[in-house]
Amino acid sequence: MNIVLLGPPGAGKGTVAALLKKELDVPHISTGDIFRENIKNGTELGKKVESIMASGALVPDDVTVELVKDRLSKDDVKNGYILDGFPRTIAQAEALSFFADIDAAVCFVLSDEEIIKRLSGRRICKSTGKIYHIVSNPPKVDGIDDETGEPLIQRDDDKPEAIKHRLEVYQASTAPLIEYYSGKGLLKNIDASVSPEEVLASVVAALKA
Ligand code: AP5
Repeated sequence: MNIVLLGPPGAGKGTVAALLKKELDVPHISTGDIFRENIKNGTELGKKVESIMASGALVPDDVTVELVKDRLSKDDVKNGYILDGFPRTIAQAEALSFFADIDAAVCFVLSDEEIIKRLSGRRICKSTGKIYHIVSNPPKVDGIDDETGEPLIQRDDDKPEAIKHRLEVYQASTAPLIEYYSGKGLLKNIDASVSPEEVLASVVAALKA
């Protein structure tokens, strides 16, 4: 099954995708994670996108589409995949339709108030990408990754100005995808305000329906 995860920044797409990939046994492909990995490794792509991402703006469509097209040409996606953070614009969705058949677009629904709480409290492990929250999902030792023992960091785009900009960008560029996938009969809205395990259960039920 080829699935797209839609929804505002901080709605829990990455957290639930980490659970869903085990449930479905398919890869989780997050464009945000791929860009962050490139920034960490100092690649040309990383240098190109670093300041764009820190500001909360979108990376240009052509760069992102090429990246996903290449990723979906690998053997491990033969039995399906979870696309998280792509497509982000109508142009990306239209480009995707030329090289992929999407079976479902799952949209995480959450209020702006809850999004801001989730993003401002998020901490991540830079080397593994593991996601924490200082209140709802804290590490065992304050500020330290449970597995690697490394200090947790706050993403540059989780600072207040960038969060505000990301929410504006979401409304202007990404929210239209809800209608786009609804028009194709693929949209499944999910209440993302409950625990990650409950969100996962709703997603699995919606995919089976
Ligand atoms: P990306 O990394 O895709 O960011 P995003 O879509 O803004 O999503 P987030 O990662 O912020 O949130 P999430 O929904 O995954 O929430 P999470 O599970 O972490 O993109 C970053 C940037 O890359 C973009 O701004 C852009 O510059 C660029 N980019 C990426 N893709 C692009 C594209 N296609 N085109 C152009 N540019 C692109 O959870 C958030 C917090 O909430 C965590 O602390 C978590 O612990 C907590 N939490 C999660 N679920 C729950 C729950 N159910 N209950 C309580 N707390 C929860």
